[in-house]
Amino acid sequence: MAKRPEERVRELREAIRHHEERYYIYNDPEISDEEFDRLLHALERLEADRPDLATPDSPTQRVAGRPVEGFDTVEHVSLMLSLDNVYNEDELKAFDERVRKGAGLGDTPVAYVAEMKIDGLSIALTYEDGRLVGGATRGDGIRGENVTANVRTIRAIPLALRDGPRGRIEVRGEVFLPRASFLRMNREREDAGEPLFANPRNAAAGTMRNLDPALVARRGLAAFIYQLVADRDLASVSHAGTLTTMRAWGLPVESHWRRCDGIDAVVAFCREWADQRQTLTFDTDGVVVKVDDLALRERLGATAKFPRWATAFKFPAQQATTTLLRIDVNVGRTGAVTPYAVLDPVRLAGSTISMATLHNAEDVARKDLREGDRVLIEKGGDVIPKVVKAILPHAAGSEPWQMPSACPVCDSALRRDEDEVVWRCENTSCPARLRRSLEHFAWRSAMNIEGLGSSLVDQLIEQGLVRDFADLYQLKASELEDLVVAPREPRSERARPRKLGKVGRNVVDQIERSKRNDLSRLIYALGIRHVGEKAAATLARQFRTMDRVLAAPVEALQSVSEIGPVVAASVRLFADEPRNRELVERLARAGVNMTSQAPEPSEQPGPLAGKVFVLTGTLASLTREQATEALERLGARVAASVSKKTSYVVAGSDAGTKLDKARQLGIETLDEGAFRKLIIKGSAGL
Ligand code: IVH
Repeated sequence: MAKRPEERVRELREAIRHHEERYYIYNDPEISDEEFDRLLHALERLEADRPDLATPDSPTQRVAGRPVEGFDTVEHVSLMLSLDNVYNEDELKAFDERVRKGAGLGDTPVAYVAEMKIDGLSIALTYEDGRLVGGATRGDGIRGENVTANVRTIRAIPLALRDGPRGRIEVRGEVFLPRASFLRMNREREDAGEPLFANPRNAAAGTMRNLDPALVARRGLAAFIYQLVADRDLASVSHAGTLTTMRAWGLPVESHWRRCDGIDAVVAFCREWADQRQTLTFDTDGVVVKVDDLALRERLGATAKFPRWATAFKFPAQQATTTLLRIDVNVGRTGAVTPYAVLDPVRLAGSTISMATLHNAEDVARKDLREGDRVLIEKGGDVIPKVVKAILPHAAGSEPWQMPSACPVCDSALRRDEDEVVWRCENTSCPARLRRSLEHFAWRSAMNIEGLGSSLVDQLIEQGLVRDFADLYQLKASELEDLVVAPREPRSERARPRKLGKVGRNVVDQIERSKRNDLSRLIYALGIRHVGEKAAATLARQFRTMDRVLAAPVEALQSVSEIGPVVAASVRLFADEPRNRELVERLARAGVNMTSQAPEPSEQPGPLAGKVFVLTGTLASLTREQATEALERLGARVAASVSKKTSYVVAGSDAGTKLDKARQLGIETLDEGAFRKLIIKGSAGL
């Protein structure tokens, strides 16, 4: 007998959460991205058929609503403290002595928990009856910004706890960008001509403050939780117990923590991880050492800034010296030619380094780096280290480095605009540019063609099967099945050159599927200079079709909010090039979607323009997202928390503290009936 929709929805949600945990918490997925998407789509379809089953904590509801105008300020339930630092083992032992003295324990060893110090930004999450209702940044420790909509997009964070406690709890932790997401993001920014983030921490902080949750969702942020703030004794008498309980609730707790009996075990842990940290998928700059016994913590208390029961052991700087053998250049998708250092291989913090970035020719000149120099290198947030400086004197007989005058791949002359630091290869059919362009076209945030990685792209170019994006859509499964692809870095027996076979067929399926993408992805995938994901989404939403984007005069492009003169000029330049027009036409003829279905920005101020609504509790006849959409269609803004700026609070059943706050502030509240009347009246233009 077929399963009831209620049961199927429940099963799908459980399965989706299970796979989110495998992927985002354990980095050990059990299914492919495509299979995961299939589960999510199945759930979306069921919820579309049965809107009464769509709840705000459904995984389909992670990205809801449109960009917000700004973040409200929220007050933390208790001060969000920072940590004191120690920089070596002696200081760590001194911390332990202070703890033992403060506790009156004499020589008795204290039990600690040692955890990774995650290099991100702190976050406080509120759950009410097990449902995620709020997320706030640390701010000044007293007040932070309400970033709930962005937090909801982070798949490591559960929207609903598993067997979590009733009532209201707050958990705290760190939002961060895994290294792989950081590298991808910077590569995309570099290609779009946008400034790069210096390290994953800055990138995470920048992303978290973005006003468009849909963009935040694509950035690949993750989170770890390490603290429970509750006014009741909920979890345990020890921190180790709290971590275990929080993990059981489904919260992302970083798994490498260890309970240590006494400071010597803590020191051993710190030594171990100073090297091993490179094996982690995220950046850590130290170990946080915390007293395990919660009652003892209470007794030790805090200074104005730091708890006395915890400290952060900072790992020593990751620097080394080696010889700069050569300076080579790399050609990017936009033709940008950037220098990089080829180094005499050297061990640094757990890995062997043989290359380092050198941002641009000016950077090399400023540091006066010369081939043959001894250089100081450093691992920052990025996995690729950078050259800090040359150790003088320079190598005997060395000369200042000069940018080559021709492209190392196609030999065309390199050019540089007066106001730019970047040199470029202007040959649009340079093989190096084509290779990077195709990789970008296939990226997850662009056309999302799984399986079309760099080795396959290399082969497609080499075999003459693909000369531009449109050629991808002419590929036949039989051609790809027979293609022999050599892995980039052969590491094992399995990595020998092999026929693609079934993988090739899957790639053709993926290419076929990509035809249905929204216009915003295509605009981004085309790799128009300065047009990043966000600008592409804005253009698609505003102009709706590719024809209209390409026909828009610079003034029309620039009049779109968030599209500046640089982006507008770049789009025009792209559209004016006949070869680009022809490319777009061939893509259209191949069946690639040239339209956008994204919600249209309202041109006229709606009848509820300027009004701010807050939704609380459950509405019987529509989901929170449907209510939000209806309000936004009428020009209203939906905020996550109640403030003096709130115009109305819509209270469904089980409305919580937001309703209390509205009453305190004397804000008008609407029950479901009154709310529906308002929407119906507004939609009829009354
Ligand atoms: S505990 C009252 N644990 O580091 C103690 N903090 O430099 C609260 N951080 O503000 C912090 N990983 O944002 C704790 N495992 C961890 C951490 C961690 C990263 C951050 C946190 C804190 C900052 C202090």
